[in-house]
Amino acid sequence: MRFIAKTLYGLEKVLSEELRIMGAGNVQIANRAVSFEGDMGLLYKVNYCSRTALSILMPIADFRIRSKDDLYKAGTKIEWDRYMDPDDTFSIVPVINSPHFGHTGYAGLILKDSIADTFRKQTGRRPSVDTDNPRLLINLHISNDQVTISLDSSVVPLFKRGYRQEQSVAPLNEVLAAGILLLSGWNAASTFTDPMCGSGTFPIEAALMACKIPPGKFRKFFGFQRWRDFDEDLFQKVVFENNNKIQSSPVKIFGCDISGETLQFAKTNVAKAGLNDAISLEISDFKDLRSEEGGLVFMNPPYGQRIQPEEIDTLYGMIGTTLKHNFPGSTAWLISSNKESLKHVGLKPKEKHILFNGALECILLKYEMYSGTKKTVKV
Ligand SMILES: C[S@@+](CC[C@H](N)C(=O)[O-])C[C@H]1O[C@@H](n2cnc3c(N)ncnc32)[C@H](O)[C@@H]1O
Repeated sequence: MRFIAKTLYGLEKVLSEELRIMGAGNVQIANRAVSFEGDMGLLYKVNYCSRTALSILMPIADFRIRSKDDLYKAGTKIEWDRYMDPDDTFSIVPVINSPHFGHTGYAGLILKDSIADTFRKQTGRRPSVDTDNPRLLINLHISNDQVTISLDSSVVPLFKRGYRQEQSVAPLNEVLAAGILLLSGWNAASTFTDPMCGSGTFPIEAALMACKIPPGKFRKFFGFQRWRDFDEDLFQKVVFENNNKIQSSPVKIFGCDISGETLQFAKTNVAKAGLNDAISLEISDFKDLRSEEGGLVFMNPPYGQRIQPEEIDTLYGMIGTTLKHNFPGSTAWLISSNKESLKHVGLKPKEKHILFNGALECILLKYEMYSGTKKTVKV
């Protein structure tokens, strides 16, 4: 079977590596998605274990259209009774970029009518639409003439791990945080510090990796559990096999923040994730922190948009000075959307990646600290 794992821009490669390691075949990178092949066991495993997928789709029909009517006709040819019965509810998510449909919602309405009419003809009854809590979530993707209809096996996006009880004003998406850690090659071999940890996303995702805790462990539900062919025994096997790998963290993981109120959010989330033993949290201004040689620093400072520090450029200047003087021999990864302020860090980046935090284009920069590296450079 072929599946499509959706992800955030810039994380396609790390997702493809995750999928290969999990045993996926024919892994192909696309735009904000990776397609792969495997069986139902792999579909369950990817939902349960992938750190960088947002959702996993299972295509059930692929075809070309020349007009709107072709979508309706092709919809009536799908064996919908394989996936739902007339008493079930469904919902359609249309993703449309096609000259045949000026209005995205219209394509969804056509497919909805096609499904309802097919059931009515066959059984005299029809399933109803429930956008809040559907039994089946159908993804309708149309790019020019090419239509792909898929079932969404995740339904609730996979960045919703289930551990986040509290959030600061500007939390990182969990998939983005995990993707950055994988991009960096994080292998739980060095001390980890997030000196501006907010609600704790970086330390929690780092600790989940260090402890080999599947990110799906805290979720109550995956879409495939409502499918007609759901194999509970197979799913429990996947859960058991992967929970069995859980270990204690081999390294120290620290989260700090200048705000006691924000750090309280992190404490709640860390406790919910069962990571009290793996993560130490402390109130501190970054400028007062120091690290041992060879540590890793991940930070997501305020961008100056949603959070307004008085002097955002001064803050970024302090980040550069503190990294240089207090973190010798460390490697730091810094993500921000504020390109102007990033110039004030004043350190020469070793790597640069473009990523998106929600709608905001961000730069992820890697700095390696040695004595005397502070120079003024263009980012
Ligand atoms: C964008 S938020 C981080 C969000 C976090 N990554 C998350 O997922 O929740 C930036 C954080 O930096 C903290 N901060 C700002 N200035 C600081 C400083 N000088 N030292 C330590 N933390 C600081 C803020 O309190 C805020 O929680």
